[in-house]
Amino acid sequence: MLLRTQIIEILKHIIVQSTGKPIFSVASIEELDIDKDGKVTISLNFPPIDESEVIEVQSAIEERLKEEGASEVNLTINVRKPRNIHHVIAVSSGKGGVGKSTVSTNIAIALSQLGNRVGLLDADIYGPDIPMMFGVNERPYVNEENKIIPIEKYGVKLMSIGFLLDKSDTPVAWRGPLVTKAIEQFYNDVEWGELDYLIIDLPPGTGDVQLTIAQSLPTKYGIVVTTPQDVSILDASKALNMFRASEIEVMGIIENMSYFVCPETGTRYEIFGSGGGERLAKESGARLIGRIPLEPRIRKGGDEGNPVVLMEEDTETRRIFLEIAKEVTKFIEGS
Ligand SMILES: Nc1ncnc2c1ncn2[C@@H]1O[C@H](COP(=O)(O)OP(=O)(O)O)[C@@H](O)[C@H]1O
Ligand SMILES: [Mg+2]
Repeated sequence: MLLRTQIIEILKHIIVQSTGKPIFSVASIEELDIDKDGKVTISLNFPPIDESEVIEVQSAIEERLKEEGASEVNLTINVRKPRNIHHVIAVSSGKGGVGKSTVSTNIAIALSQLGNRVGLLDADIYGPDIPMMFGVNERPYVNEENKIIPIEKYGVKLMSIGFLLDKSDTPVAWRGPLVTKAIEQFYNDVEWGELDYLIIDLPPGTGDVQLTIAQSLPTKYGIVVTTPQDVSILDASKALNMFRASEIEVMGIIENMSYFVCPETGTRYEIFGSGGGERLAKESGARLIGRIPLEPRIRKGGDEGNPVVLMEEDTETRRIFLEIAKEVTKFIEGS
């Protein structure tokens, strides 16, 4: 009678023709059992592969095990559904507090309002602000396949570490490898379904999370958020260079808190200076795709889970975010 170790040894030598690789370089064992009559029950998990390959692998395994003495082979091959996330866009900046989460939130909703299927992955493990900006207090469910069902609000599917913490002010004290794992799981183990756009709201800087989204996730596009002053521009250019070093195409630069228009007088004040975003665009060759004013309604909307793009009144800010969302879709159609 075959032993478990023998079976594993036999399986190790079976090659998946399409990849030319042994099955264990792509598949994993879900179940392996041998009963007293020599009947072998195996269940294997595969990444997305063609039906024809499933049949081929199946017959190869059955044939080999019978040759080696299995009285019967009961084989199940589970094939993971292909991921259908068309465009992954990361939103980065050098500094914290410049408006990445605000921009990610409002662009995600604006893209959804334009008729797209949109997800938003909050990759700011240490300071997850997406739950607050969307006004979400629920916890996501986990289905039978151990996939997390994202929370849907304002037409956007959301995932954030903030949904899993007991209290929103609990600090996460994780080291790099755990953070990397969490980000990978937020991409792979969340049931995103089919998405036109997945927006990733990054933490500030150029650390582990930025490396993970560049190396382990199929992130193709990046947006850089900055405020107009020099210190912010300097850090934003680091974020921009990191995108480029990872072969992430920079879709555009957004200058946030660009100016303030006094509601009483209509006078425009450039509180953080002016021209920073334009300068960064010129120096880097990336496009400035939007300038967002400093506006109390944006801050209030963020704190209250009522993003400014959803506000009833047709504000200039709302129009700017919709314009940026259109720029995003145009960029992708043109690339
Ligand atoms: N254009 C703006 N006008 C007013 N407040 C803003 C604006 N952009 C962002 N804020 C506020 O500034 C704070 C920091 O923004 P946030 O999006 O959390 O930045 P980051 O994600 O880069 O750390 C939040 O309270 C947010 O509501
Ligand atoms: Mg943030």
